[in-house]
Amino acid sequence: MLKPDFKEAKKRTKKEIKVLKNEYVIPEKIKNVGINKKYYIKTYGCQMNEHDSEMISAILEDLKYTKTEDYTCADLIILNTCAIRENAHNKTFGMLGRIKHLKQTKPNLMVGLAGCMSQEESVVNKIISDYKWMDFVFGTHNIHKLPQILKQAIESKQLEVNVLSNEGNVIEGIPSKRASKYKAWVNIMYGCDKFCTYCIVPYTRGKQRSRMKDDIINEINDLIKQGYKEVTLLGQNVNAYGKDFKNISYNMKDLLLDVAKTKIERIRFVTSHPWDFTDEMIDVIAKYDNICNYIHLPVQSGSNRILKLMGRRYTKESYIELYNKIKDKLGENCSITTDIIVGFPGETDDDFNETLKLVNECKFDSAYTFIYSPREGTPAAKMKDDVSLEVKQKRLYQLNEVINKYAKMKNDKLVGKTVPVLLEDVSEKSKSMLAGYTDTMKLVNVKADKKYLGKIVNVKITDAKTWSLDGEINE
Ligand code: SAH
Ligand code: SF4
Ligand code: F3S
Repeated sequence: MLKPDFKEAKKRTKKEIKVLKNEYVIPEKIKNVGINKKYYIKTYGCQMNEHDSEMISAILEDLKYTKTEDYTCADLIILNTCAIRENAHNKTFGMLGRIKHLKQTKPNLMVGLAGCMSQEESVVNKIISDYKWMDFVFGTHNIHKLPQILKQAIESKQLEVNVLSNEGNVIEGIPSKRASKYKAWVNIMYGCDKFCTYCIVPYTRGKQRSRMKDDIINEINDLIKQGYKEVTLLGQNVNAYGKDFKNISYNMKDLLLDVAKTKIERIRFVTSHPWDFTDEMIDVIAKYDNICNYIHLPVQSGSNRILKLMGRRYTKESYIELYNKIKDKLGENCSITTDIIVGFPGETDDDFNETLKLVNECKFDSAYTFIYSPREGTPAAKMKDDVSLEVKQKRLYQLNEVINKYAKMKNDKLVGKTVPVLLEDVSEKSKSMLAGYTDTMKLVNVKADKKYLGKIVNVKITDAKTWSLDGEINE
C-alpha cells in the first residue's frame, strides 16, 4: 500500500526532473481484460483533470474496455476527482454512495478513485476505513501505471492504494482519447510551486515541471495532421513555463512563438498567473493572429491586505497595470476573464469593497467566483475562518451581480458584428443549431447546418445574453 503523505508532497528539492518516455507498458496478462466490458469515467475539476480523463480513457481502451455514459451499465467505474473546494469532495462522496448500492447488486463491478482527492491523506484514510469495498486508488503522478494497478486490484481482490507523493517527473507517451475532434488540450507543464496559502494544488500535483519543447510541438503538429483547429496549452501557471529548466533558456514567450509557427488555427493557454506575465509574451500574442485574444487572469481579491495573506505576490495596482498593458497592446476587443474568492479569512467589508472596486475598474468579460473553502494542510486553513457563511453568500451574490452586468455589457457590444466562430457541437439550446466559441471565448449558438461542424465560420451576432450570444452564418 502506498499512501499519500502531505509532508512529502510539500517538499521542493533540487532533484532533477526526469523526462520518462517508456513508462507506459501494458502487462501481457491483462491486455484483453476489458473485452466485452464497459467503463464509465466521471471527471470533476479543472481542464487538467479533463485531459487526465482523456488519458485514463485511452488507457482503458488499450485494455479493450468500451466507454459507457451510464454508470449503472459499467463494469469499471473511475472517479477522477478534484480537491479544490469542499463541495468537490462532497460531490465525489455523494457519487460513491450511489456506486456502493450498485456494487451490492453487481459484485464484479470494479471501482477506482483517481485525481487530486487521491493525493490527500485524509481522503485516502477515509477510503481505507469506510470504503473498503472500493477496488483501487491511484493519484495524479501515476496515471500511466493504471494497467499495473488494475491488475493488482483484480488479482488481490482487495482495495489497492497506490499514490505517490513525490515531486513528480514528466511522463511522455501516455495515449489520449480526446473528447473533441476539433480542439485539444495540450499539457505544457505540470504541478505548481506558487503555494498560494489557500490552495491545495501544489500538494496534489507536485513540483512545477515543464515538458520539453519538442514533445509539445510534435504533439501539436500531430494534432494538425489529424485535423484539429484549436489547442489549449495547459498548466497551473503557464506563464512560468520553462522556469524550471536547468540548462535550457526557453520560456513561455519562446513556446508561444513556436506554437504560433506551427500554423494551428487557434491557440489558447490557461492559466496565467499575473506574477509571471512578461511584456515579451504580450508582444507575441499581439503579433500572431492564431494566438487568441483571450486571457484568463485570476485576480482572487482586490484588497492588497488579502492578496498578501493569500500569498499572491502582486498588488491591486500591479494587477491593474498589467491589465491595462494587455488591453493596450491587444486592443480593447481582447477579452480578459478572472477568478475571485470571497470570504477569505479576515476579509472585512472594506476588503470586499476593494474587490468590487477592482471589478468595476476592469469590467471583466466574465469571472469564476468562489466562496473560500478551507483546505486541510494549507497555511490558510490555520487562519481563523471568521467570515460567516451568511456574509460569504451575500458577498458572492453581490459580486456576481456586478460580474454579470459587465458580461452582458461586453456581449451587447458584439450585436451586429461579424466574428469568426469555431463550430464544435450541436447546441444545447436546439438540435437545429450549432454551438461554438469566438476567438475571445464567447459562446455562440448559431443557426447552421451540421456541415459546418469543425469549421471556423464568420457569424453575425444577432442577440446577446449574459452567458451566450446568438448568431447566423454570414459568409
Ligand atoms: N492556477 C490557477 C488557479 C487554479 S485553481 C491560478 O493560480 O490562478 C482555480 C481557482 O479556484 C483559483 O483561481 C481560485 O479562485 C479557486 N480556489 C482555489 N483554492 C480555493 C479555495 N481553497 N477556496 C475557494 N476557491 C479556491
Ligand atoms: Fe493554486 Fe496559486 Fe498554484 Fe494557482 S498559482 S494552482 S491558485 S497555488
Ligand atoms: Fe481540482 Fe486538482 Fe484541478 S484540485 S482544480 S482537479 S488541479
